[in-house]
Amino acid sequence: MSDLDKFAEDLQSQIMKDLEKTHSKKVIEHWKNPKNWGIMNDADGYGKVTGPCRDTVEFSIKVDNGVISKCTFDTDGCGATIACASIITEMVTNKPISYAKSITQTSVLDACGGLPEDNIHCAILAANTLHATIENYEETKSHPWKKLYRK
Ligand code: FES
Repeated sequence: MSDLDKFAEDLQSQIMKDLEKTHSKKVIEHWKNPKNWGIMNDADGYGKVTGPCRDTVEFSIKVDNGVISKCTFDTDGCGATIACASIITEMVTNKPISYAKSITQTSVLDACGGLPEDNIHCAILAANTLHATIENYEETKSHPWKKLYRK
């Protein structure tokens, strides 16, 4: 192993140790291995919200008989946001729309096992995007032509 490789490996290890001091195992796992990444073109509901940090989260959902059969996400945000969005996709998959509507910013934080103060807004952004996605689903359900005007 070259000196440069050793330096990179040590640096990576130190970063992970620092992360483990401030983030739950669950957040780190979803950060490193996000679930359900990508946006579906044929989604029944789609939402995109930009937070105060200027990062954006998107969700897309497929709904069968009032149950979310698939939920996927994309983001240009930080690792905490990746984790929050990934965790939300797992929270809502195979759950009724009514359950997804009941998910709050606090329940996302709880599902994450908490986040550092500086990342609270990331959970809020992810939760707000979920609600925008559900609103879009309900709106396009009664006005399907609106799917054509999604950005
Ligand atoms: Fe912007 Fe996390 S979403 S810092």
